[in-house]
Formats: sequence, structure tokens, C-alpha cells
Amino acid sequence: MADLSAELFALVGKLSIGQLVLASFGVLILTLVVGRLLFNSLPSKRPPVFEGIPYIGGFLKFSKGPWKLMEDGYAKYGDVFTVPVAHKRCTFLIGPDVSPHFFKAGDDEMSQSEVYNFNIPTFGPGVVYDVDQKVRTEQFRMFTEALTKNRLMAYVPQFVKEAEDYFAKWGNEGIVDFKDEFSKLVTLTAARTLLGREVRENLFEKVSDLLHGLDEGMVPLSVFFPNAPIAVHKKRDRCRKELADIFAKVIRARRASGRREEDVLQQFVDAKYQNVNGGRSLTEEEITGLLIAVLFAGQHTSSITTAWTGIFMVANKDEVVMASPNFSHMLPHVFPEPTRYDPDRFAPPRLEQNKPYGFIGFGAGRHACIGQNFAYLQIKSIWSMLLRNFDFELLDPVPAADFDSMVIGPKACRVKYTRRALA
Ligand code: HEM
Repeated sequence: MADLSAELFALVGKLSIGQLVLASFGVLILTLVVGRLLFNSLPSKRPPVFEGIPYIGGFLKFSKGPWKLMEDGYAKYGDVFTVPVAHKRCTFLIGPDVSPHFFKAGDDEMSQSEVYNFNIPTFGPGVVYDVDQKVRTEQFRMFTEALTKNRLMAYVPQFVKEAEDYFAKWGNEGIVDFKDEFSKLVTLTAARTLLGREVRENLFEKVSDLLHGLDEGMVPLSVFFPNAPIAVHKKRDRCRKELADIFAKVIRARRASGRREEDVLQQFVDAKYQNVNGGRSLTEEEITGLLIAVLFAGQHTSSITTAWTGIFMVANKDEVVMASPNFSHMLPHVFPEPTRYDPDRFAPPRLEQNKPYGFIGFGAGRHACIGQNFAYLQIKSIWSMLLRNFDFELLDPVPAADFDSMVIGPKACRVKYTRRALA
């Protein structure tokens, strides 16, 4: 042993400083890797770690896309597993047995703001994830009050009008991509019902350009570094400022005129805090932020759902089907034959969506979607109008899901429409 140490010292003595640094670095890496492998394999109460190659395994797994990651993790470990990425540990809870832990947890156990605070530059200061939970709860109450049954009834004719005007511009026959078409139409319906008449009728082009700039400013990097000095972030900040100026003018003019409109903007103009901020009304900056937040929550989600609805309906004219892009909706013990388009699964007596925490397309529990009814009414208004007036045919196969986008929509797909002759 003494000989071995002496030989080692002699060897180290012969190394240059550079070689010594390199060797120390190698030893450090080896220690970290072995330590991590040992740690991951130790029996523990924590979820199993799905990593593979220590440190970089998580990155490699994420780089193959979330679907593959969940598929492999679920097959290997079941409902719960952790994938470490950089300094974060991402723990997946998949399926109705474990989902309640996610959806029911209070803010002290699972806080949303750490995950969502990358939205702050987009939504702006003083709203949603930039405020503490008490203020946020009140702001979400204001959302909820803007989407009650009576309010929704006032929005439906506006959805229908927008859809009728939009599709009146289609010819008798043509080829479209549902994703693009519904993205445009939902921007119009959202502008009218959420942002208000003034924006829809006078400022639509300008405002939708600015909103597009905000949208482009949300890239994968933004989730980790929302203020990284990159071109799209700089543009996002400029657009956000211009939107604030436009909305401030609209809000001031509406307040001054005393005129009332049937839109979410009106609800926010009238809203008051109850238990925080001294019961004051919302500022122009807060109203702008809340409108942007509600628009972001409802824009891609609704337009993409409208597109998937159409693609599956048109692709399965002669059968009944449903397929959800969400991994949890693909668990056969929750939705039998999950890839089969089978809308009857949602009708009595089957009502498969009613299994607790089985259908979670709108979230569930404490942070369930506030806009669910709004979205259903909007999508149904669009599709009832379309199905009455057009026949459709897919010119491409049912497209794959585009996992590169924030909300998982269909990849491009050409659809041929033919206007029906009036009887
Ligand atoms: C098909 C359309 C929609 C889908 C699939 C959808 C889906 C969801 C999901 C999954 C959540 C939960 C997010 C989480 O747990 O972190 C959520 C939350 C929310 N959604 Fe929607 N949404 C849709 C439309 C809308 C619309 C149209 C609006 C507003 C007009 C809206 C407003 C909200 C809000 C404010 C929240 C946050 C609730 C909270 O954190 O307490 N959503 N949505």
C-alpha cells in the first residue's frame, strides 16, 4: 500500500499544472457521475429517477419530445417518476390515480407562480403571476364573473356573427388549413368578446399585430430565461408597451363616455377588489394585463381544439371517434381504445370523461380552467355554423401533433371545403 501511494505521488509529481487540473477535473466528474448513479439507485420514498446518463440524461430525454419522454417513463416506472433537468427536477404524475395530488394541492404545497412566472413580461406588471396569491385569487374571481351564464349568453351571438362574417368570405369551394383559419377566426371572436367593440371595430389590425409580437416572444428559452436579451424578447417588450398605450386610451374613453358594452373589458372596467387593495377598481395597466392573460389562456387552446375537432370529424365521417393529444387521455384503462375516434364515449351511458380525474383537458381541482364554458360555446358556435353550410374533405392524412408549439396543435393539413347549395 505504501508502495502504491509512493508511486502515485511520484506520478503526480511528474505532471504539469495543466495535466494536474485536467486530471482533477476528470476525478471530480467521475465522482459526481458515480455519486449520482448510486443516489438514483438507493431505495427512497422519492419517485424513481428516470435519467440514464447522469446530468445530461434528462436533457437528452426532453430533447426527444415530451410524448416520447412520458411514454418511456410511464412504461418503465408507471404513474410517477422524476426527470432531472439542470437544477430542476421534473416529476410527472400520470393518470387518474395520482393526478388529484397535482390538482388538489394548495399553493403552499405546489405553487403555480414559480412555474408560470415566465409569463410576467407578457402579461405585464401587477397581474396574475406578478402578484401574491390573495390578489391573484381576486383577479381570477373577476375572470369568473366575466364568464357567468348570463355573460356567456351575451357572447354567443357575437361568436355566431364573427363566424358568419368570416365564412361568408370563403368561396364556394376551396382548400384551407383549419389551424390557420381557426387561429384567425378565434382572434376575431376573442377581440370582440374579450377586448371589446372599440378594438374589434377600429383597432383590430394594429392590436392583432402587437399580440402576434407578444406571441412570438414566447419561445422555449423564455420559460427558463424570460428576460434573456434576444430579439424576440425585445420585440415582445415593445409590443407590450404599445398595447398598454392603446388599451389605456380605450379604457379611458369608455369610462369617460359612460357607455356600456357586452364584453369582458366592461366587466374588468366595472370590477373592484373586495378584500385586498382597499377595494379599489382595476387600473388601466391591470385591465390591460388581465385582458392579455385571458387572451393567452383562451386563444391557442380554443383555436387548436376547434381545428382538432374538425380534423377528426372530417376524417371519420362514417364512424365515431375521439383522440386526445394529452398523454393521460391515452391510457386505455381510463379511455378504452384511446386512439379510436369515438365521440359516443362522452355520451350516456358511457360518460367515460366522468371518471374522477380521467378527463383533464381543462385541468381540474383548484386551477381548473375558468374559460371552459366560453371555449365550448365558441367552438360549438363555429362548428354548428360550418356544418350547416359546408361539406369538408381532408386532402392529407390526419396530421401528427406539433409538439414544438406551446399548445399542441395539428401540423399542417389541407382541407377541401365545398359550400352547400341552399335548399
Ligand atoms: C379549448 C379551450 C381551452 C382549454 C383546452 C383550456 C385548458 C386549460 C387548462 C388545462 C388549464 C389549467 C392550467 C393549470 O393547471 O396550470 C386552464 C386554466 C385556465 N384557463 Fe383555460 N382552456 C381553454 C380555454 C380558455 C378560455 C377561452 C379562457 C378565457 C376566456 C381560459 C381561461 C383560463 C384561466 C383564467 C385559467 C387559470 C385558472 C387558474 O389558474 O385558476 N381558458 N385552461
